[in-house]
Amino acid sequence: MPTIRNIVILTGAGISAESGIDTFRSEGGLWERHRVEDVATPEAFARDPDLVLRFYDMRRAAIQTKQPNAAHRALARLDAAWPGDLLIVTQNVDDLHERGGARRVLHMHGEHLNAWCTACDARSPWTAPLLHRPPCPACGTSALRPDIVWFGEMPYRMDEIHAALRQADLFVSIGTSGAVYPAAGFVRGARDLGIPTLELNLEHSKGSAWFDETRLGPATEVVPAWVDQMLASV
Ligand code: APR
Repeated sequence: MPTIRNIVILTGAGISAESGIDTFRSEGGLWERHRVEDVATPEAFARDPDLVLRFYDMRRAAIQTKQPNAAHRALARLDAAWPGDLLIVTQNVDDLHERGGARRVLHMHGEHLNAWCTACDARSPWTAPLLHRPPCPACGTSALRPDIVWFGEMPYRMDEIHAALRQADLFVSIGTSGAVYPAAGFVRGARDLGIPTLELNLEHSKGSAWFDETRLGPATEVVPAWVDQMLASV
């Protein structure tokens, strides 16, 4: 195994599943109960803001009742002990990586616990509902929306992500179905750069064929095992 200094880890809803947060595309998942085009697009927000705000108020409240699991905590151990660069690029909008102790986290799809002011563009930490149109903490205007990247919007900090991928010696994907781009394309970018790739997932994903190795199992088992293996080499 070539020397591994810099690691990029992509996580998806599967890493939070065992914390009791619904994934999107598994049996009974979020997109089975809600049409994406009704709640997770700018057009939906323009058409029926109350429906969208109610949906995200429910999701924001739900994640605050959940706890990080052994997979989040294992990644935090790796983050704390890893001497090289390490970046957890998460598609998740919960704060379980941070509450599990991870520091080097990048939320490419936004965060439930932020509110984004469409008047002044400020993003503010937010845990309460938005349905009653509270004033923006920065400018006072009642123009807050969820700080979530909706379908058709540009994910956050893509330049940073691509820069980290270019420097990576290992790309690891955890708990994602490989259904949504640009995240689903990171593995192919890594392969094109000759970077070793590893997938840790409950089942095979749409991207499994692109990975050098796939280890199947629940994140709370396969992620700690992988972290222990990595830390044994530090
Ligand atoms: N351990 C590991 N993996 C799991 C577990 C588990 N306990 N439970 C489910 N998984 C896997 C599923 O097999 C699936 O491959 O997690 C993946 C979840 O896939 P999705 O529900 O599609 O979630 P994700 O890939 O994160 O979705 C990507 O789509 O809807 C948008 O913006 C949203 O960020 C989201 C993006």
